[in-house]
Amino acid sequence: MENIGNIIQFQLYSTMMHPDPGRLPVVYEEWEDMARKTLEDGPYYYIAGGAGGEQTMKANLRAFEKWQIVPRMLRDVEIRDLSVNLFGNKFPYPILHAPIGVQSIIHPDGETASAKACAALGVPYIASSASTVPMEKLAELMGDAPKWFQLYWSRDPDITASFLRRAEDCGYSAIVVTLDTPMMAWREFDLKNVYLPFLAGEGVGNYFTDPAFLSKLERNPKEAPEAAIMHWTKVFGNAGLTWNDIAFLRKHTSLPLILKGILHPEDAKLAIKHGADGIIVSNHGGRQVDGAIGALHALPKICDVVQDKIPILMDSGIRRGSDIIKAMALGAKAVLVGRPAMYGLAAAGEQGVKEVLRNMVADLDITLGLAGQRDVKQLDLSILYKTS
Ligand code: FNR
Repeated sequence: MENIGNIIQFQLYSTMMHPDPGRLPVVYEEWEDMARKTLEDGPYYYIAGGAGGEQTMKANLRAFEKWQIVPRMLRDVEIRDLSVNLFGNKFPYPILHAPIGVQSIIHPDGETASAKACAALGVPYIASSASTVPMEKLAELMGDAPKWFQLYWSRDPDITASFLRRAEDCGYSAIVVTLDTPMMAWREFDLKNVYLPFLAGEGVGNYFTDPAFLSKLERNPKEAPEAAIMHWTKVFGNAGLTWNDIAFLRKHTSLPLILKGILHPEDAKLAIKHGADGIIVSNHGGRQVDGAIGALHALPKICDVVQDKIPILMDSGIRRGSDIIKAMALGAKAVLVGRPAMYGLAAAGEQGVKEVLRNMVADLDITLGLAGQRDVKQLDLSILYKTS
């Protein structure tokens, strides 16, 4: 059987014989250009921008340029395997959709479109706490398709416990706990544009349907939206948390707990010590600590201390198939795709997300084969060269 990369590649070339006037981009930068043309400054910079002077956003991409693939020849790469096993499940590709909130600001279908696109491809969708569409609705439309829930750990323990309960009840199979956002970062463009979508009632779908959140309001959000939003600003984050609080999450869910935002090897050790089932090496796409280490640079040392005790995933800077190969060769079991999917969503809704992810899979498949590799699970440092 032909591999997915060859099939998609041929489909794309075949429009030479049967031109398709509505053909969507293939080049990552063109998706971003299309998103830029579609969106007002506020929503565009909310997606494309980062914290501070955007040093870390740039460092994420530069880190991938530091590593180069050294292809091998004559190794029979006719049949390739892109599948990975994570937390007892087999997924067709080493790609997950990163948790991304407030997607309603870039397309009217918002998270609904992304979740459907992922379900169609078998790519696990990580639903954000900050979704405009509540988690139950996304779970329902995804049916049996793989889905995880991302927790923003609220200052109000009742809300945190309630989110965990709801996620488990409606069929999410893992919890991603985002540790790097106990508060909003200093984002210069959002401040310049005076743009924080939550204040306009976007991205609060899980809160405004949550019994614990609602029980603390005097009037319901439909009657008094501003008071509800103000309450949200008070309970969203919690900068007072410590490692010992992980026990609270463990007590309230039996699902695997995957800690997102780990960059320091000592934190990776603490994650294991406190019972994490997995970690995600990530700097939130350069949206939290400006000047933070490029996520790919953080990966090798973390893999050294973790020693395969728990799976390590990574995100922040994944743009193309070769990036996935580099991340996996350095020890990641899978990667999360963030902004590329969002540019697809802004430009062309569900179809846009589908094409961005599908093309990335195709690029990965072909690049893997051309690098002389058959199985993403077998990738290791032996195929990488670090430039100085
Ligand atoms: C994010 N990210 C994020 N992470 C998270 O845990 N919960 C969330 O709600 C969001 N929301 C969000 C919104 C937008 C607009 C972006 C761009 C990102 C971070 C996301 O999961 C991931 O870590 C980054 O997107 C990775 O960086 P790149 O590869 O997209 O640059």
